[in-house]
Amino acid sequence: MPTISHLLSTGPRWRYARKIFMLEPLLAKRVSGFQAVRKEEICGGINDALTMSQKGTQPVRMDLILGKIAGNIITRMLMNKGSLSENAAKIKNSHAFQQALRDSVRVGTNFYLGDYVPWLDPFCSKKEMYAIAKKCDELLQTILDDHKMKLGTAPGQTVTTDQNKVQDIVDVLLTRPRDGDGQYLTEMEMKAIIMDVFFGGTETNEVTVEWGLSELVRNPHVMEKAQAEMDSMVGKERLVEESDLPNLPYLNAIVKETFRLHPVAALLPAHMSMEDCEIQGYKIPAKTRLLVNIHAIQRDPEVYERPLDFYPERFLGSEKDVHGLDFDLLPFGSGRRMCPGKGLGLVLVQYTMALFIQCCNLKLPGTMKPEELDMEEKFGLSTPRLNCLKVVMTPRLPRGMLIQ
Ligand code: HEM
Repeated sequence: MPTISHLLSTGPRWRYARKIFMLEPLLAKRVSGFQAVRKEEICGGINDALTMSQKGTQPVRMDLILGKIAGNIITRMLMNKGSLSENAAKIKNSHAFQQALRDSVRVGTNFYLGDYVPWLDPFCSKKEMYAIAKKCDELLQTILDDHKMKLGTAPGQTVTTDQNKVQDIVDVLLTRPRDGDGQYLTEMEMKAIIMDVFFGGTETNEVTVEWGLSELVRNPHVMEKAQAEMDSMVGKERLVEESDLPNLPYLNAIVKETFRLHPVAALLPAHMSMEDCEIQGYKIPAKTRLLVNIHAIQRDPEVYERPLDFYPERFLGSEKDVHGLDFDLLPFGSGRRMCPGKGLGLVLVQYTMALFIQCCNLKLPGTMKPEELDMEEKFGLSTPRLNCLKVVMTPRLPRGMLIQ
C-alpha cells in the first residue's frame, strides 16, 4: 500500500492530494474537534500504565503504552465509532488493523536488497510485501465501503450527503465534492491518505514522547520544574486541557528541546531540485538530490551552546520555533514538502507530555541512576530508542480523575 508521498512524488496530482490533506483531515477545526478523544485515550493509557506499575513496583514498557495511545487516537480520528457498522467496528478495534498498517510501513521503508542486486530479488521480502499490501488494501476497502454504506451510497458510486453529518476523516474524504475543475480523489489516493494519517500520527508521536519522557527521567530537575509550572498554572483540582498549552512555556520548551535532540527524521526525506538554480553562489543543476541532516544541524556547537545537554531553558524567551522558518530547528522539515500534519503532531506530543507530567511521577526501575539510562538510537526512517524506556510509575493525582 502506498502513501501519498510514495504514490505521487510531485506534479499536479500530488499538489491536489496535498491540498486536500492540508485542507480537510488536518484542518485546525477538525483537529480541535477531536480533543475529547485525545484526552480520553491519553488518560486511559496513563491509567493502564499506573495499574501495570503496581504502586511503583513493576517497570512498564513505555513504547507499548505510547504505541497504544497514539494508535487508538489516530484510528478513532479516522474512523469514529458512531459511523461504523458492526463488521467495520470489529476491524477498527482489532489489533490486526493497526498491525497491518504498521507492517505495511515497516516493509515499505526497510532497505530492500533486491533493488540493488536484482538476482537476489526472489530471496528478498517481496512475497511478504505483497501479502501485507493485499491485507491492508482489503481492510481499507472494507472501511471505505462501510462508510459509503452508512452515508447511504453503494460501493463504487459517488457519495452525496449532508456535510453536517460528517464525523470522521474517512467520511470527510468520501464526502468531499469535486473541485471546480472537476478533480476528485480516487479510492487509491484516499487509502494512501489514510495510511499517511496513520503513520504520520502514530510512529512520530510515540518516538518523540518516548524520548521526551526519557529525558525527563534522566533529568529529574527538569521534571520537577515542569511539575511546578503545571501545579501553578493548572493546579491539581482538574486535568490539564489542550487550551492550557499556550500558558505552559516550560513544557513547550521541553518539547522543542526534545525535537532538537531527538528529531524523528534524523535525515529529512530526500528532496530534489526541479530546475537549475543558484544558492549563495553555488550552481545547483536540476534533479540534484538533497539530504538534510537535521540531527547534525540541531547538535551543531556553533548554533547551540552545550548541544548535547538537555537544556529546555535555551528556548525560554527565544523566538525560535519548529514551524520551518528557523533553519537550525527543523523537526517537521521546511518548504513545500514540509510535514502537512505539523499542527496535529505538535498538539499530540505537547498534550501527551503535559498529562504525563501532571499525572505521574516516573522513575527508573530498581537502583538504576538517571545517568545510567542508555540513550542509544536505532537508525532507520524514524529514529526511535534502540532499547525501549522502562519506568516505574506512581500517581500524582487521584486515579479517579483519569477515568473519563
Ligand atoms: C511529532 C510529529 C511529527 C513529526 C516530527 C513529523 C515530521 C515530518 C517530517 C520531518 C517530514 C518530511 C518533511 C520534509 O521532507 O521536509 C514529514 C512529512 C510528512 N508528514 Fe509528518 N511529522 C509528524 C506528524 C505528522 C502527522 C500527525 C501527520 C498526519 C496526520 C503527518 C503526515 C506527513 C506526511 C503525509 C508527510 C509527507 C509530505 C509530502 O511528502 O509532501 N506527519 N513529517
